[in-house]
Amino acid sequence: MAARRTAPRLLNTLCRVSSRRFGALPEGSTSSSSQHLINIEYECSAHNYHPIPVVFSQAKGSSIWDPEGNKYLDFLSAYSAVNQGHCHPKIMKALVQQAERLTLSSRAFYNDRFPVFAECLTSMFRYDMVLPMNTGAEGVETALKLARKWGYEKKKIPKDEAIIVSCCGCFHGRTLAAISMSCDNEATHGFGPLLPGHLKVDFGDEASLEKIFKGHDSIICCQVIIPPDGYLKAVRDLCSKFNVLMIADEIQSGLARSGRMLACDWEEVRPDIVILGKALGGGVIPVSAVLADKDIMLCIHPGEHGRVKGDQINRVNQVYGRCDGPCGDDAEEAERELDGIGSVYENDVVFLDAQLEQCVREFGNGRFELTEG
Ligand SMILES: Cc1ncc(COP(=O)(O)O)c(C=O)c1O
Repeated sequence: MAARRTAPRLLNTLCRVSSRRFGALPEGSTSSSSQHLINIEYECSAHNYHPIPVVFSQAKGSSIWDPEGNKYLDFLSAYSAVNQGHCHPKIMKALVQQAERLTLSSRAFYNDRFPVFAECLTSMFRYDMVLPMNTGAEGVETALKLARKWGYEKKKIPKDEAIIVSCCGCFHGRTLAAISMSCDNEATHGFGPLLPGHLKVDFGDEASLEKIFKGHDSIICCQVIIPPDGYLKAVRDLCSKFNVLMIADEIQSGLARSGRMLACDWEEVRPDIVILGKALGGGVIPVSAVLADKDIMLCIHPGEHGRVKGDQINRVNQVYGRCDGPCGDDAEEAERELDGIGSVYENDVVFLDAQLEQCVREFGNGRFELTEG
């Protein structure tokens, strides 16, 4: 829960500091005032969020402008979905080029981008196969279904008795399966009954995990947040000992957010199933992916699972970039961007040290505290 409230507090603090006028409103901005837009949204949209009162009108890299022309630094990056920066020129170019060439084939047919993307992603993360989805929560659902299928086909768990063990304090999305793994009353209250077949354990509590494994034919689903030292390795060892699958939800922590491609890499742990999302779509389309080796992935057969828009991937192949022309390797561009925001950081943000300390727990090796989307 603390983590969930971290991001709004941090952004609020920064907004107050950087909301001075930095220059002219960028071309093409709307003329409606922020307050007018906030009022319309309040009247016409469900109240399932409580947004910070800043209206994004235009953005570039880490900068955002509101309709009045105030400039902000984006420290939230859409909960990591725009880690590459807003409107990254290579991502935008690839998106437009691909959308004009082929919009969608669905997985009923083959297309000429998805295989390239699948090969790229599996070789990058060293798993045999990938199953693409759209949102993060769908990626989570997919991983759970895959794990259950493996449990019945390979581990020979009796019908409908598979158990998913999840860790309190983690966040996996807002669907029924995802909230069934949550210990957060705000996320679950009023949405019952939750799915059966779920057990929970405190994140970091190896002893309780071992007790559960000893008592059940379980499957573990474990989201990566900042773990106590050695915890991920301990979970890996327990999973291997009891023939339980380890699933790492790296939707937010993956793709170099922690300073390594996967946060699990810090402990040199290889989960059986990895879920990616958010930054995978370059911030322009929702893309998630489940990675696993063949003995697990091939437990799902044609017709058993899928998404019509699973082949949005044909764009993501280029969006993510490494296959056709690396946008992730563009160190010079990243450095220029950092130079640009450096002075703002020095002038404004350093004065916030005290508040920032409350908001962000940063570790020497680049780890971070996760926020919920
Ligand atoms: C670790 C993690 N898993 C799953 C999700 C759900 O992703 P989505 O909002 O795309 O469904 C999130 C979103 O914040 C997340 O941080």
